[in-house]
Amino acid sequence: MGTLEGKIAWVTGAGSGIGQAGAIALASEGATVVLTGRRKEPLDATSATIKAAGGKAVVKPGDMMKSSVVGRIAADIDKRFGRLDILVNNAGLNIGERDWGRLTPESADTVIHGNLSSAFYCVTASLPLMRRTKGGVMIHTASWAGLWPSSLSGAAYSAAKHGVVAMSHVINMEECVNGIRSCVFCPGEVATPILDKRPIPVSKEDRAKMVQSEDCGDLIRYIACLPPHVCINEVVISPTWNRGYVAQQQHTLAPKKKK
Ligand SMILES: NC(=O)c1ccc[n+]([C@@H]2O[C@H](COP(=O)([O-])OP(=O)(O)OC[C@H]3O[C@@H](n4cnc5c(N)ncnc54)[C@H](OP(=O)(O)O)[C@@H]3O)[C@@H](O)[C@H]2O)c1
Repeated sequence: MGTLEGKIAWVTGAGSGIGQAGAIALASEGATVVLTGRRKEPLDATSATIKAAGGKAVVKPGDMMKSSVVGRIAADIDKRFGRLDILVNNAGLNIGERDWGRLTPESADTVIHGNLSSAFYCVTASLPLMRRTKGGVMIHTASWAGLWPSSLSGAAYSAAKHGVVAMSHVINMEECVNGIRSCVFCPGEVATPILDKRPIPVSKEDRAKMVQSEDCGDLIRYIACLPPHVCINEVVISPTWNRGYVAQQQHTLAPKKKK
């Protein structure tokens, strides 16, 4: 029997990348996983993978940028299962034209709304269910850019993900007395479809050296399987071949002398 047998997990952005890998990993431990994203087809594919391995999944498509939709999905979970044990608050996006030269009020809104407001909607919809059972674990996918702002990610994304980090820590400050644990997950570069939005294309070779979605799925499973008295507040991971560090070395380390 898996550690998460009988538990209900809600994973947003479950049709691809980190969310998909997290959903598969949680289902492999016995959790029933509710899969959300805007497009139904990728969610159906995740569900099929989970079911083919003997797991349990339910597809609930929806746009996390709409608070009414988020509230409706949480209400559906409550009606169907009467509980929510794990939230993987992972849906997020970025835009190609992210530099100050091309950012517009509308595109800034999209990024802030799609990474920060949406994350808040998910938390406010989930907390009442978790408070009722006096327990639950939340894992929010922020980013390396949520700790260290960068041009690579852009100002709007960096700002939104800093907000997600702050959001998660304050959940622990207030909800620890209700047995609720919040973990903010801050990955560096992970080889997922979000990289297709990068202004400078990322090569296949570079993607192969990055953290992979399955590495993140494993971590999500580990955090969700911890006993209720353990809270992992923040997790930072990055590729060993960290392209930011490698680029820095080119400017800071003297070239090796030829023998
Ligand atoms: N890959 C990286 O290098 C990296 C690094 C740090 C942090 N992150 C964060 O990791 C999270 C997952 O991204 P990923 O890397 O796995 O990329 P991804 O494959 O593009 O996954 C993002 C998922 O979120 C869903 N989504 C986006 N906006 C949504 C919305 N408004 N409502 C519902 N679902 C929405 C997308 O599905 P639909 O389009 O069908 O809605 C997609 O499945 C994001 O929060 C991202 O910012 C990624």
